[in-house]
Amino acid sequence: MQFRNIQLPASQTGVDFGVELVGCDLENLTEEQFKEIEKAVYTHQVLVIRNQSHVSPETQYKLTKRFDPEVDTYGHGTSHQSKKSVIARDLSPLPGVPQVQLLGHGTVHNHHGIEERKLNHPSHRSFHQTQLSEEDEKAGKTRFYRWHMDAALYELNPPLITTLFAVQTPEHRRELVVYDDGSDQSMDVQLGTTAFISGAHAFDILSPEMKDLAFRTQVKYAAHPYLWISKARAHSTGLGIVSEGRELPKEELPPIKEEAIKIYPMLWKNPVTGKIHLQVHPCAVEDLIIDGKPVGDLNKVRELLYQIQRPAINPENILAHEWEDGDMVIFHNRGVLHSVVGSLRDDDKRIYHQCNLASAKEPEAPSEEDRKPYILAH
Ligand SMILES: [Fe+2]
Repeated sequence: MQFRNIQLPASQTGVDFGVELVGCDLENLTEEQFKEIEKAVYTHQVLVIRNQSHVSPETQYKLTKRFDPEVDTYGHGTSHQSKKSVIARDLSPLPGVPQVQLLGHGTVHNHHGIEERKLNHPSHRSFHQTQLSEEDEKAGKTRFYRWHMDAALYELNPPLITTLFAVQTPEHRRELVVYDDGSDQSMDVQLGTTAFISGAHAFDILSPEMKDLAFRTQVKYAAHPYLWISKARAHSTGLGIVSEGRELPKEELPPIKEEAIKIYPMLWKNPVTGKIHLQVHPCAVEDLIIDGKPVGDLNKVRELLYQIQRPAINPENILAHEWEDGDMVIFHNRGVLHSVVGSLRDDDKRIYHQCNLASAKEPEAPSEEDRKPYILAH
């Protein structure tokens, strides 16, 4: 096995993460090889292993579990199967290995115990406040659908890693991601790419004032977050929700268990490199707690968070993976954010398997020692 750099366009000056592994067969992995892979995932955040078309869903599940052997529940538990959840429409568990989810676009037949399923690649049309015109989409313009980590963010802790496996990729035509936020930014990508940003880089590029603030801030996620935002609409950049008062009121949500509500630090410590990652799922946030005091105003919370996170998704910071059939990508789900991308046509076909497991461990906060170099005099 050998690691090598991912070839990226010269424009990607902010991408200091991602690595490719060659000479690896995931169906025949020794313990020593697994340990190398595990270390590489936490060190480089995104690990690409090509030519794994022969890998079964069972093997993908076992590989995923090896990173967190004590747990066995899919990252979203079963909450994502609730019809109204914004997650439900994108994922179908495989009958034989329910922790592995089938996702993609087009109709699949006789697929690992699924007789027939019509898959839909998530489209910004069902989620963003504003939409591209049909002409623009036909001409190959698209958007980042939703920047996120894979996590229930209620009751269950975020998975450590996610494995994403390309069974069949669509035609490799190019698309142009547009930000449509007045910035004039855009990015050339492969149709159906997965876009990643590094939480460590997102932290690095914050101003000293914002770093200091981030250390003092905890993030409170909403109860049943994906139901809560099921009628809400996102920014044109896919980075969080526009405040329009469309969140479901508590009475319309299932009963809330206070102890299941998740409050995490804004910054998480990488277990291998010790680096500090800015790690927030912007859509699911209900409040920020700064110096122990809740902000208590959703509009303000989102504005502040957007200001903190927006630089991280500048085009130069994005690793847009160029998928090939048989690619297994393992990413550090607690160290990156990622987004679905692409406007697929009716006759495009995309078949993927995804697996992650809700961890028993909470994310680790940076220590007081880690914080010291960043404290500003107040
Ligand atoms: Fe995801």
